[in-house]
Amino acid sequence: MRMIFIGPPGAGKGTQAARLVNQFTIPHISTGDMFRAAVKAGTPMGQEADRYMKAGQLVPDEVTIGLVRERFAEPDTQAGFMLDGFPRTVPQAEALAEALKTDGVNLDVVLLLEVPDELIVERIIGRRSDPETGAIYHLTFNPPPAEIADRLVHRKDDTEDAVRSRLEAYHKMTAPIIPFYESLGLLKRVNGVGTPDEVTAAINEALK
Ligand code: AP5
Repeated sequence: MRMIFIGPPGAGKGTQAARLVNQFTIPHISTGDMFRAAVKAGTPMGQEADRYMKAGQLVPDEVTIGLVRERFAEPDTQAGFMLDGFPRTVPQAEALAEALKTDGVNLDVVLLLEVPDELIVERIIGRRSDPETGAIYHLTFNPPPAEIADRLVHRKDDTEDAVRSRLEAYHKMTAPIIPFYESLGLLKRVNGVGTPDEVTAAINEALK
């Protein structure tokens, strides 16, 4: 299965991808997670990405496409993948199409998780992540167990200002890839409003 998850920041892509990869036993490839790992490791690419991420802007295409090309060279992607947060611009979508064509494989589905902007800020501000397990929580909607509360992390780009910039970048740079995948007959729209279980059920319905 070769799938892509697209949707605005905080739509629930990471939450749902973590559930789906277990179902399909395919690698979850999140460019956001890969950039955060590079920032943590202090690599030159991580330092460059950090400047854009903190400001809620997209990392330049050539950096992002290079990162994904390297990841695709790893053998675990041969049986399939779940891309989360990539592609995010038309040039990224074109680069992905080219890479898949070279490999002689096709995408199966593009899931668009739709959540209105007014819900996004609330979801993002309350998000906390567990650096040990990668689990994603929300202080109100999915509260973490009390015993791990001290080690939870609040992402640097989860401020209200950065979220507004990320939403702007989404509408300006990422929304144009929606008609691209729609014209290929690959796009499935999923309502991202509801409990995480309701959204998982809607995704499974869309995948039938
Ligand atoms: P990235 O990490 O991809 O961030 P994002 O797309 O903004 O998405 P998020 O991770 O914020 O949200 P999500 O949709 O995964 O939601 P989640 O499940 O966590 O990218 C970060 C940055 O990296 C970008 O801004 C950019 O700078 C750079 N970058 C990454 N990829 C790039 C690319 N391709 N090109 C250029 N730059 C790139 O859920 C959010 C919260 O809501 C959580 O607290 C969760 O518990 C809660 N929640 C989830 N589902 C529900 C629900 N159904 N009901 C209530 N609460 C819910």
